[in-house]
Amino acid sequence: MNVLIIGSGAREHALAWKLKQSARVEKLCVAPGNAGTARIATNIESPISSLQSLISSLQINFVVIGPEAPLADGLADALRAQNIRVFGPNQNAAEIESSKAFAKAFMRRHNIPTARYETFSNFDDAVRHVESVQYPIVIKASGLAAGKGVILPETLDDARDALRQIMLEHEFGAAGDAVVIEERLQGEEVSLLAFSDGFTVKAMPPAQDHKRLLENDLGPNTGGMGAYAPVNLPENFLDEITRDILQPTIDGLRAEGRMFVGVLYAGLMLTQDGARVLEFNCRFGDPEAEVILPLLESDLLEVMEACVDGKLAQCDVKWARGAAACVVLASGGYPGKYATGIPIHGLDAMPNRNAMIFHAGTKLQDAQVMTNGGRVLCVTGVGKNLGDALDTAYAAIRPLGFEGMQYRKDIGQKAMIPQVSSL
Ligand code: AMP
Ligand code: GLY
Repeated sequence: MNVLIIGSGAREHALAWKLKQSARVEKLCVAPGNAGTARIATNIESPISSLQSLISSLQINFVVIGPEAPLADGLADALRAQNIRVFGPNQNAAEIESSKAFAKAFMRRHNIPTARYETFSNFDDAVRHVESVQYPIVIKASGLAAGKGVILPETLDDARDALRQIMLEHEFGAAGDAVVIEERLQGEEVSLLAFSDGFTVKAMPPAQDHKRLLENDLGPNTGGMGAYAPVNLPENFLDEITRDILQPTIDGLRAEGRMFVGVLYAGLMLTQDGARVLEFNCRFGDPEAEVILPLLESDLLEVMEACVDGKLAQCDVKWARGAAACVVLASGGYPGKYATGIPIHGLDAMPNRNAMIFHAGTKLQDAQVMTNGGRVLCVTGVGKNLGDALDTAYAAIRPLGFEGMQYRKDIGQKAMIPQVSSL
Protein backbone atom coordinates (compact mmCIF):
# COMPACT_ATOMS: atom_id res chain seq x y z
CA MET A 1 0.00 0.00 0.00
CA ASN A 2 1.32 3.44 -0.92
CA VAL A 3 0.30 6.04 1.63
CA LEU A 4 0.32 9.83 1.47
CA ILE A 5 -0.02 12.00 4.58
CA ILE A 6 -1.08 15.64 4.12
CA GLY A 7 0.44 18.17 6.53
CA SER A 8 3.71 19.44 7.94
CA GLY A 9 3.61 19.41 11.73
CA ALA A 10 4.66 17.13 14.58
CA ARG A 11 1.25 15.45 14.31
CA GLU A 12 2.07 14.42 10.74
CA HIS A 13 5.58 13.30 11.74
CA ALA A 14 3.98 11.13 14.45
CA LEU A 15 1.49 9.74 11.92
CA ALA A 16 4.35 8.94 9.52
CA TRP A 17 6.40 7.34 12.32
CA LYS A 18 3.50 5.09 13.32
CA LEU A 19 2.43 4.21 9.74
CA LYS A 20 6.05 3.37 8.91
CA GLN A 21 5.78 0.51 11.45
CA SER A 22 2.97 -1.04 9.46
CA ALA A 23 4.18 -4.06 7.47
CA ARG A 24 1.78 -3.28 4.63
CA VAL A 25 2.98 0.26 3.97
CA GLU A 26 5.31 0.16 0.96
CA LYS A 27 5.76 3.77 -0.11
CA LEU A 28 5.21 6.54 2.46
CA CYS A 29 4.98 10.16 1.30
CA VAL A 30 4.23 13.37 3.21
CA ALA A 31 3.06 16.59 1.55
CA PRO A 32 4.70 18.93 2.31
CA GLY A 33 6.28 17.36 5.43
CA ASN A 34 9.27 18.73 7.34
CA ALA A 35 12.89 17.80 8.08
CA GLY A 36 11.72 15.03 10.42
CA THR A 37 9.37 13.35 7.94
CA ALA A 38 12.14 13.60 5.31
CA ARG A 39 14.15 11.09 7.36
CA ILE A 40 11.50 8.38 7.28
CA ALA A 41 9.37 9.19 4.22
CA THR A 42 9.46 11.05 0.92
CA ASN A 43 8.48 14.70 1.23
CA ILE A 44 6.45 16.12 -1.62
CA GLU A 45 6.39 19.84 -2.27
CA SER A 46 3.18 20.31 -4.14
CA PRO A 47 0.31 22.76 -4.02
CA ILE A 48 -2.93 21.07 -2.97
CA SER A 49 -4.35 21.94 -6.42
CA SER A 50 -1.93 19.59 -8.18
CA LEU A 51 -2.14 16.82 -5.57
CA GLN A 52 -4.61 14.73 -7.53
CA SER A 53 -2.36 14.24 -10.55
CA LEU A 54 0.56 13.59 -8.23
CA ILE A 55 -1.39 10.94 -6.39
CA SER A 56 -1.94 9.02 -9.60
CA SER A 57 1.66 9.39 -10.76
CA LEU A 58 2.96 8.18 -7.38
CA GLN A 59 0.37 5.37 -7.37
CA ILE A 60 -0.90 6.40 -3.95
CA ASN A 61 -3.81 4.24 -2.77
CA PHE A 62 -4.46 5.68 0.68
CA VAL A 63 -4.44 9.31 1.87
CA VAL A 64 -4.41 10.53 5.49
CA ILE A 65 -5.32 14.19 5.95
CA GLY A 66 -3.72 15.66 9.10
CA PRO A 67 -4.87 19.28 9.50
CA GLU A 68 -8.36 20.81 9.54
CA ALA A 69 -7.95 23.38 6.75
CA PRO A 70 -7.83 20.92 3.79
CA LEU A 71 -10.70 18.93 5.35
CA ALA A 72 -12.77 22.11 5.67
CA ASP A 73 -11.89 22.96 2.06
CA GLY A 74 -13.23 19.62 0.80
CA LEU A 75 -10.01 17.77 -0.06
CA ALA A 76 -11.45 14.46 1.18
CA ASP A 77 -14.51 14.89 -1.07
CA ALA A 78 -12.33 15.66 -4.09
CA LEU A 79 -10.14 12.60 -3.52
CA ARG A 80 -13.11 10.30 -2.87
CA ALA A 81 -14.63 11.49 -6.14
CA GLN A 82 -11.47 10.07 -7.79
CA ASN A 83 -11.98 6.74 -5.98
CA ILE A 84 -9.02 7.32 -3.69
CA ARG A 85 -9.37 5.90 -0.19
CA VAL A 86 -9.16 8.73 2.35
CA PHE A 87 -8.87 8.80 6.12
CA GLY A 88 -10.58 12.08 7.09
CA PRO A 89 -14.13 13.42 6.90
CA ASN A 90 -15.84 15.05 3.95
CA GLN A 91 -16.40 18.80 4.04
CA ASN A 92 -19.95 18.60 5.43
CA ALA A 93 -18.85 16.39 8.36
CA ALA A 94 -15.75 18.57 8.95
CA GLU A 95 -18.16 21.43 9.62
CA ILE A 96 -18.35 20.11 13.18
CA GLU A 97 -14.98 21.90 13.54
CA SER A 98 -15.03 24.55 10.81
CA SER A 99 -18.25 26.20 12.02
CA LYS A 100 -18.74 26.62 15.75
CA ALA A 101 -22.21 28.03 15.00
CA PHE A 102 -23.07 24.75 13.23
CA ALA A 103 -21.47 22.64 16.00
CA LYS A 104 -23.40 24.38 18.76
CA ALA A 105 -26.75 24.17 16.94
CA PHE A 106 -26.00 20.51 16.15
CA MET A 107 -25.34 19.78 19.84
CA ARG A 108 -28.57 21.53 20.80
CA ARG A 109 -30.52 19.45 18.23
CA HIS A 110 -29.02 16.20 19.47
CA ASN A 111 -28.97 16.89 23.23
CA ILE A 112 -25.19 16.70 23.46
CA PRO A 113 -24.08 18.42 26.68
CA THR A 114 -22.38 21.76 26.06
CA ALA A 115 -22.35 25.29 27.51
CA ARG A 116 -25.46 27.41 26.87
CA TYR A 117 -24.92 29.92 24.07
CA GLU A 118 -26.23 32.31 21.46
CA THR A 119 -24.93 32.97 17.93
CA PHE A 120 -24.70 36.47 16.44
CA SER A 121 -23.84 37.93 13.06
CA ASN A 122 -24.77 41.51 14.00
CA PHE A 123 -22.34 43.49 16.17
CA ASP A 124 -24.96 45.58 18.03
CA ASP A 125 -27.00 42.50 18.91
CA ALA A 126 -23.86 40.76 20.19
CA VAL A 127 -22.93 43.75 22.37
CA ARG A 128 -26.47 43.97 23.77
CA HIS A 129 -26.24 40.28 24.65
CA VAL A 130 -22.93 40.55 26.53
CA GLU A 131 -24.33 43.56 28.41
CA SER A 132 -27.35 41.60 29.54
CA VAL A 133 -26.10 38.09 30.42
CA GLN A 134 -25.76 37.30 34.08
CA TYR A 135 -22.96 34.74 33.82
CA PRO A 136 -19.27 34.84 32.76
CA ILE A 137 -18.84 34.31 29.03
CA VAL A 138 -16.50 33.15 26.28
CA ILE A 139 -16.52 34.74 22.83
CA LYS A 140 -15.66 32.56 19.83
CA ALA A 141 -15.22 33.41 16.18
CA SER A 142 -17.35 30.78 14.47
CA GLY A 143 -14.92 29.80 11.70
CA LEU A 144 -11.39 28.41 11.62
CA ALA A 145 -8.93 30.83 13.22
CA ALA A 146 -5.86 28.63 13.73
CA GLY A 147 -6.68 28.14 17.41
CA LYS A 148 -6.76 31.90 18.10
CA GLY A 149 -10.45 32.75 17.77
CA VAL A 150 -11.49 32.11 21.38
CA ILE A 151 -11.48 34.99 23.86
CA LEU A 152 -12.17 34.78 27.59
CA PRO A 153 -13.01 38.38 28.54
CA GLU A 154 -12.54 39.42 32.17
CA THR A 155 -14.64 42.62 31.98
CA LEU A 156 -17.49 44.02 29.92
CA ASP A 157 -15.02 46.35 28.20
CA ASP A 158 -12.84 43.38 27.23
CA ALA A 159 -15.91 41.68 25.78
CA ARG A 160 -16.91 44.73 23.73
CA ASP A 161 -13.31 45.10 22.48
CA ALA A 162 -13.19 41.45 21.47
CA LEU A 163 -16.46 41.73 19.56
CA ARG A 164 -15.23 44.89 17.84
CA GLN A 165 -11.98 43.20 16.80
CA ILE A 166 -13.68 40.05 15.54
CA MET A 167 -16.85 41.47 13.96
CA LEU A 168 -15.90 44.99 12.82
CA GLU A 169 -12.13 44.88 12.33
CA HIS A 170 -12.25 41.30 10.97
CA GLU A 171 -9.18 40.19 12.90
CA PHE A 172 -9.90 36.56 11.92
CA GLY A 173 -11.31 37.41 8.49
CA ALA A 174 -14.52 35.66 7.49
CA ALA A 175 -14.12 33.30 10.47
CA GLY A 176 -15.55 36.15 12.56
CA ASP A 177 -18.64 36.85 10.42
CA ALA A 178 -20.57 34.95 13.06
CA VAL A 179 -19.66 34.69 16.74
CA VAL A 180 -20.74 32.24 19.38
CA ILE A 181 -21.09 33.70 22.88
CA GLU A 182 -21.31 30.97 25.46
CA GLU A 183 -21.21 30.42 29.19
CA ARG A 184 -17.76 30.11 30.68
CA LEU A 185 -17.39 26.76 32.40
CA GLN A 186 -15.10 25.70 35.25
CA GLY A 187 -13.22 22.44 35.51
CA GLU A 188 -10.39 20.30 34.16
CA GLU A 189 -10.01 20.06 30.40
CA VAL A 190 -9.61 16.72 28.63
CA SER A 191 -9.21 15.90 24.95
CA LEU A 192 -11.04 12.71 24.05
CA LEU A 193 -10.31 11.51 20.53
CA ALA A 194 -12.00 8.61 18.82
CA PHE A 195 -11.67 6.65 15.60
CA SER A 196 -14.90 6.59 13.62
CA ASP A 197 -16.17 4.82 10.52
CA GLY A 198 -19.42 6.79 10.54
CA PHE A 199 -21.26 4.18 12.64
CA THR A 200 -18.91 2.92 15.37
CA VAL A 201 -16.66 5.02 17.60
CA LYS A 202 -13.63 3.72 19.45
CA ALA A 203 -12.22 6.15 21.99
CA MET A 204 -8.48 6.62 22.36
CA PRO A 205 -6.79 7.16 25.74
CA PRO A 206 -7.88 10.59 27.06
CA ALA A 207 -5.19 13.26 26.77
CA GLN A 208 -4.50 16.67 28.21
CA ASP A 209 -3.02 19.51 26.20
CA HIS A 210 -1.22 22.48 27.81
CA LYS A 211 -2.42 25.47 25.81
CA ARG A 212 -0.82 28.34 27.72
CA LEU A 213 2.72 29.43 26.90
CA LEU A 214 4.06 29.62 30.45
CA GLU A 215 4.32 27.40 33.48
CA ASN A 216 1.33 27.22 35.86
CA ASP A 217 -0.96 27.86 32.88
CA LEU A 218 0.00 31.52 32.59
CA GLY A 219 0.65 33.63 29.51
CA PRO A 220 -1.02 33.63 26.10
CA ASN A 221 -2.76 30.70 24.42
CA THR A 222 -0.67 28.70 21.95
CA GLY A 223 -1.23 25.79 19.61
CA GLY A 224 -0.21 23.57 22.56
CA MET A 225 3.03 23.42 24.55
CA GLY A 226 2.87 19.80 25.65
CA ALA A 227 0.51 16.95 26.46
CA TYR A 228 0.19 13.68 28.28
CA ALA A 229 -1.98 10.59 28.09
CA PRO A 230 -3.82 8.85 29.55
CA VAL A 231 -5.60 11.27 31.85
CA ASN A 232 -6.77 9.43 34.93
CA LEU A 233 -10.58 9.53 34.78
CA PRO A 234 -13.02 8.04 37.25
CA GLU A 235 -14.15 4.52 36.40
CA ASN A 236 -16.98 4.30 33.83
CA PHE A 237 -16.39 7.91 32.80
CA LEU A 238 -15.02 6.98 29.38
CA ASP A 239 -17.98 4.68 28.73
CA GLU A 240 -20.38 7.42 29.76
CA ILE A 241 -18.74 10.03 27.53
CA THR A 242 -18.71 7.57 24.64
CA ARG A 243 -22.43 6.84 25.20
CA ASP A 244 -23.57 10.43 25.84
CA ILE A 245 -21.25 12.44 23.60
CA LEU A 246 -19.17 10.56 20.99
CA GLN A 247 -21.77 8.06 19.77
CA PRO A 248 -24.68 10.55 19.54
CA THR A 249 -22.41 12.92 17.62
CA ILE A 250 -21.47 10.33 15.01
CA ASP A 251 -25.09 9.11 14.81
CA GLY A 252 -26.45 12.65 14.58
CA LEU A 253 -24.00 13.56 11.83
CA ARG A 254 -24.90 10.43 9.86
CA ALA A 255 -28.63 11.11 10.31
CA GLU A 256 -28.01 14.55 8.79
CA GLY A 257 -26.16 13.09 5.80
CA ARG A 258 -22.72 13.90 7.19
CA MET A 259 -20.93 10.53 7.52
CA PHE A 260 -17.90 11.06 9.75
CA VAL A 261 -14.91 8.92 8.75
CA GLY A 262 -11.69 9.77 10.56
CA VAL A 263 -10.83 11.07 14.02
CA LEU A 264 -13.48 12.89 16.01
CA TYR A 265 -11.87 15.01 18.72
CA ALA A 266 -14.03 16.20 21.61
CA GLY A 267 -12.52 18.99 23.71
CA LEU A 268 -14.26 18.48 27.05
CA MET A 269 -14.58 20.41 30.29
CA LEU A 270 -15.18 18.15 33.28
CA THR A 271 -17.54 20.32 35.29
CA GLN A 272 -19.23 19.52 38.59
CA ASP A 273 -22.35 18.69 36.59
CA GLY A 274 -20.54 16.29 34.26
CA ALA A 275 -18.62 16.49 30.98
CA ARG A 276 -19.47 19.36 28.60
CA VAL A 277 -18.20 19.76 25.03
CA LEU A 278 -16.11 22.91 24.52
CA GLU A 279 -15.38 22.15 20.89
CA PHE A 280 -15.18 19.40 18.32
CA ASN A 281 -12.28 18.93 15.95
CA CYS A 282 -12.40 16.74 12.86
CA ARG A 283 -8.84 15.35 13.06
CA PHE A 284 -6.06 14.28 15.41
CA GLY A 285 -5.05 16.97 17.90
CA ASP A 286 -1.58 18.44 17.89
CA PRO A 287 0.18 17.77 20.33
CA GLU A 288 -2.31 15.07 21.46
CA ALA A 289 -1.33 12.83 18.51
CA GLU A 290 2.28 12.87 19.70
CA VAL A 291 1.31 11.16 22.97
CA ILE A 292 -1.60 9.02 21.77
CA LEU A 293 0.03 7.38 18.74
CA PRO A 294 3.06 6.09 20.71
CA LEU A 295 0.57 4.27 22.98
CA LEU A 296 -1.20 2.54 20.07
CA GLU A 297 -0.22 -1.12 19.90
CA SER A 298 -2.38 -1.97 16.90
CA ASP A 299 -1.28 -1.38 13.33
CA LEU A 300 -2.44 2.19 12.52
CA LEU A 301 -3.00 1.44 8.84
CA GLU A 302 -5.32 -1.45 9.74
CA VAL A 303 -7.34 0.77 12.07
CA MET A 304 -7.54 3.54 9.47
CA GLU A 305 -8.59 1.08 6.76
CA ALA A 306 -11.28 -0.32 9.07
CA CYS A 307 -12.62 3.25 9.44
CA VAL A 308 -12.58 3.87 5.69
CA ASP A 309 -14.23 0.49 4.96
CA GLY A 310 -16.96 0.79 7.63
CA LYS A 311 -15.54 -2.12 9.60
CA LEU A 312 -14.37 -0.46 12.79
CA ALA A 313 -16.72 -2.60 14.94
CA GLN A 314 -14.71 -5.70 13.94
CA CYS A 315 -11.32 -4.05 14.52
CA ASP A 316 -9.60 -4.61 17.86
CA VAL A 317 -7.84 -1.35 18.71
CA LYS A 318 -5.20 -2.10 21.35
CA TRP A 319 -3.42 0.38 23.60
CA ALA A 320 -0.29 0.04 25.71
CA ARG A 321 -0.74 0.12 29.47
CA GLY A 322 1.81 2.83 30.23
CA ALA A 323 1.80 6.59 29.73
CA ALA A 324 3.26 9.10 27.29
CA ALA A 325 4.16 12.76 27.70
CA CYS A 326 5.44 15.33 25.21
CA VAL A 327 7.09 18.70 25.54
CA VAL A 328 7.04 21.26 22.73
CA LEU A 329 10.21 23.24 22.03
CA ALA A 330 9.13 26.58 20.60
CA SER A 331 10.85 29.53 18.93
CA GLY A 332 11.67 32.62 21.01
CA GLY A 333 8.79 35.10 20.68
CA TYR A 334 6.16 32.43 19.87
CA PRO A 335 3.10 32.71 19.84
CA GLY A 336 3.89 36.28 18.75
CA LYS A 337 6.52 37.14 16.13
CA TYR A 338 9.52 34.83 15.90
CA ALA A 339 12.52 34.29 13.65
CA THR A 340 13.01 31.18 11.49
CA GLY A 341 16.07 29.67 9.79
CA ILE A 342 17.96 29.13 13.07
CA PRO A 343 20.14 25.99 13.17
CA ILE A 344 19.01 23.27 15.59
CA HIS A 345 21.71 21.24 17.31
CA GLY A 346 21.70 17.98 19.22
CA LEU A 347 19.39 16.09 16.86
CA ASP A 348 22.00 13.40 16.23
CA ALA A 349 22.33 12.44 19.90
CA MET A 350 21.11 8.86 20.30
CA PRO A 351 17.87 9.16 22.19
CA ASN A 352 16.60 6.57 24.61
CA ARG A 353 14.45 4.09 22.67
CA ASN A 354 11.46 5.26 24.70
CA ALA A 355 11.94 8.82 23.45
CA MET A 356 10.82 10.21 20.10
CA ILE A 357 11.66 13.56 18.61
CA PHE A 358 8.81 14.64 16.36
CA HIS A 359 9.57 17.63 14.15
CA ALA A 360 6.99 20.44 13.93
CA GLY A 361 8.37 23.59 12.26
CA THR A 362 11.68 22.44 10.77
CA LYS A 363 13.30 22.38 7.35
CA LEU A 364 16.48 21.02 5.84
CA GLN A 365 19.00 23.44 4.40
CA ASP A 366 22.22 21.94 3.06
CA ALA A 367 21.87 18.93 5.37
CA GLN A 368 21.41 21.20 8.42
CA VAL A 369 18.06 21.16 10.23
CA MET A 370 16.75 24.71 10.74
CA THR A 371 13.78 26.14 12.61
CA ASN A 372 10.83 26.87 10.34
CA GLY A 373 7.88 27.68 12.60
CA GLY A 374 6.64 28.69 16.04
CA ARG A 375 6.49 25.18 17.42
CA VAL A 376 9.75 23.56 16.33
CA LEU A 377 10.10 20.13 17.93
CA CYS A 378 7.89 17.94 20.07
CA VAL A 379 9.77 15.52 22.31
CA THR A 380 7.80 12.52 23.55
CA GLY A 381 8.69 10.06 26.30
CA VAL A 382 6.90 6.79 26.91
CA GLY A 383 7.07 4.95 30.23
CA LYS A 384 5.31 2.61 32.59
CA ASN A 385 3.69 5.61 34.27
CA LEU A 386 3.48 9.37 33.75
CA GLY A 387 6.49 10.11 35.95
CA ASP A 388 8.68 7.82 33.85
CA ALA A 389 7.35 9.23 30.61
CA LEU A 390 8.09 12.78 31.77
CA ASP A 391 11.62 11.87 32.92
CA THR A 392 12.35 10.30 29.54
CA ALA A 393 10.98 13.27 27.58
CA TYR A 394 12.87 15.88 29.61
CA ALA A 395 16.11 13.83 29.43
CA ALA A 396 15.78 13.64 25.64
CA ILE A 397 15.48 17.44 25.48
CA ARG A 398 18.84 18.01 27.20
CA PRO A 399 21.09 17.73 24.10
CA LEU A 400 18.70 19.76 21.94
CA GLY A 401 18.94 23.48 21.42
CA PHE A 402 18.55 26.46 19.15
CA GLU A 403 18.82 30.18 19.77
CA GLY A 404 15.74 31.47 21.58
CA MET A 405 14.35 28.01 22.39
CA GLN A 406 11.59 28.03 25.03
CA TYR A 407 9.59 25.22 26.63
CA ARG A 408 7.50 24.50 29.69
CA LYS A 409 9.11 22.57 32.51
CA ASP A 410 5.83 21.65 34.20
CA ILE A 411 4.11 19.45 31.62
CA GLY A 412 1.95 16.85 33.37
CA GLN A 413 2.73 18.20 36.84
CA LYS A 414 -0.88 18.83 37.81
CA ALA A 415 -1.65 15.16 37.16
CA MET A 416 1.16 14.13 39.50
CA ILE A 417 -0.84 15.53 42.44
CA PRO A 418 -3.14 12.63 43.44
CA GLN A 419 -6.28 14.60 44.36
CA VAL A 420 -6.29 16.32 40.97
CA SER A 421 -5.62 13.19 38.95
CA SER A 422 -8.51 11.36 40.59
CA LEU A 423 -10.87 14.24 39.73
P1 AMP B 1 -11.93 25.95 21.82
O1 AMP B 1 -11.07 26.27 20.63
O2 AMP B 1 -13.38 26.19 21.59
O3 AMP B 1 -11.62 24.64 22.46
O4 AMP B 1 -11.45 26.96 22.93
C1 AMP B 1 -10.09 27.12 23.26
C2 AMP B 1 -9.92 27.14 24.75
O5 AMP B 1 -10.74 28.14 25.33
C3 AMP B 1 -10.35 25.85 25.41
O6 AMP B 1 -9.35 24.88 25.38
C4 AMP B 1 -10.67 26.33 26.81
O7 AMP B 1 -9.48 26.48 27.57
C5 AMP B 1 -11.24 27.69 26.58
N1 AMP B 1 -12.71 27.62 26.49
C6 AMP B 1 -13.46 27.42 25.39
N2 AMP B 1 -14.78 27.39 25.69
C7 AMP B 1 -14.87 27.57 27.01
C8 AMP B 1 -15.96 27.63 27.95
N3 AMP B 1 -17.23 27.54 27.55
N4 AMP B 1 -15.66 27.83 29.24
C9 AMP B 1 -14.38 27.95 29.66
N5 AMP B 1 -13.30 27.90 28.84
C10 AMP B 1 -13.54 27.72 27.53
N1 GLY C 1 -4.39 20.54 20.73
C1 GLY C 1 -5.47 21.28 20.21
C2 GLY C 1 -5.78 21.04 18.80
O1 GLY C 1 -5.17 20.24 18.13
O2 GLY C 1 -6.70 21.68 18.30
